[in-house]
Amino acid sequence: MAEVTLAGISKTFGQTEAVHNVSLTIRDGEFVVLLGPTGAGKTTTLRLIAGLEAPDSGRITIAGRDVAGVAPATRDVAFVFQQYSLYPHLTVYENLAFPLRSPARRLQDAEIDARVREVAKMVRIDHKLQNRSTRLSGGEMQRVAIGRALVRKPAIYLMDEPLSSLDAKLRAELRLELKRIQSELGATLLYVTHDQVEAMTMADRIGILAEGKLVQIGTPREIYSNPANLHVAARLGQPHINLLPQGLLPGCSAPAGTKTIGARTEHLEISASTPGNAEIDWIEHLGDQNHLHIRVGEHKLVTLADPYLAIQRGDRINLKLRNPLYFDAGGQRLT
Ligand SMILES: Nc1ncnc2c1ncn2[C@@H]1O[C@H](COP(=O)(O)OP(=O)(O)OP(=O)(O)O)[C@@H](O)[C@H]1O
Ligand SMILES: [Mg+2]
Repeated sequence: MAEVTLAGISKTFGQTEAVHNVSLTIRDGEFVVLLGPTGAGKTTTLRLIAGLEAPDSGRITIAGRDVAGVAPATRDVAFVFQQYSLYPHLTVYENLAFPLRSPARRLQDAEIDARVREVAKMVRIDHKLQNRSTRLSGGEMQRVAIGRALVRKPAIYLMDEPLSSLDAKLRAELRLELKRIQSELGATLLYVTHDQVEAMTMADRIGILAEGKLVQIGTPREIYSNPANLHVAARLGQPHINLLPQGLLPGCSAPAGTKTIGARTEHLEISASTPGNAEIDWIEHLGDQNHLHIRVGEHKLVTLADPYLAIQRGDRINLKLRNPLYFDAGGQRLT
């Protein structure tokens, strides 16, 4: 495995600047997740590293080597594509073995067989090894596509939303599994997704990508607790962070220049009170927790609550801030 660096990488398609001046180091053995909405430039960034696109400017190195002009096949990367494509005429077994059969690798059949079976187990497809790849569900195909990358030990794994077509249970299982596999292999892995839970649970570091720009990079904890601006703050947290005008709620001493207060559940204190400054508008029962929809004058907030909290729709409450996040008029964080 190896370190991969991007230095000032940009890529434009016609009028669209898909990637803008991105600099990023994925350290040897690190799991980096790029998190961004659709069109943020996630796939383009991976394709640039793999050599499927050439940057307009900037430099990419893999294991210390500048890869400008180096063909994809010789960059030593394994790519799991967003639109995974398997060889339809081959079985699952042969799809997994394919990357190992390259004459350049000169592996013994027994070695290939052991590796295929090992990886098939990892991605839970070992019971379907003899199936044609066309006779699989979407989620099974996706697991074969992940497995086909994992059979190799490249400089870096590049994964483009590889868990997106799985059901929630399998996605949660494979999330854990992929993290385990990566740390056991000591693999360098760049993973892109729009799913904040995947980013929070798997990443050593999360990079927040917005309109082609890398807005912030840090550990999940840093990105969650110390967002650089409103955009980053809004990417993480369920329910979404509440953005309120300064002065709406008591309980904080905002720094000069504060325009917007960012309040997550942990930044809000609720106490029963009449008349109170807020009203319970709606309660969503999710089983293990409740989402309280709260109205403060014209403004609406959502916060998590204990399902046993004795509170009902229409109740008046008192709502107070506790160490919220502060943002200036330009959306930049103030501390
Ligand atoms: N080959 C191309 N030709 C023209 N425009 C492109 C091309 N590839 C990407 N783009 C544009 O570049 C921007 C970034 O695209 P990209 O595929 O990298 O986004 P993404 O973050 O992967 O999005 P998604 O989550 O939808 O997969 C988009 O506006 C897209 O329309
Ligand atoms: Mg994409």
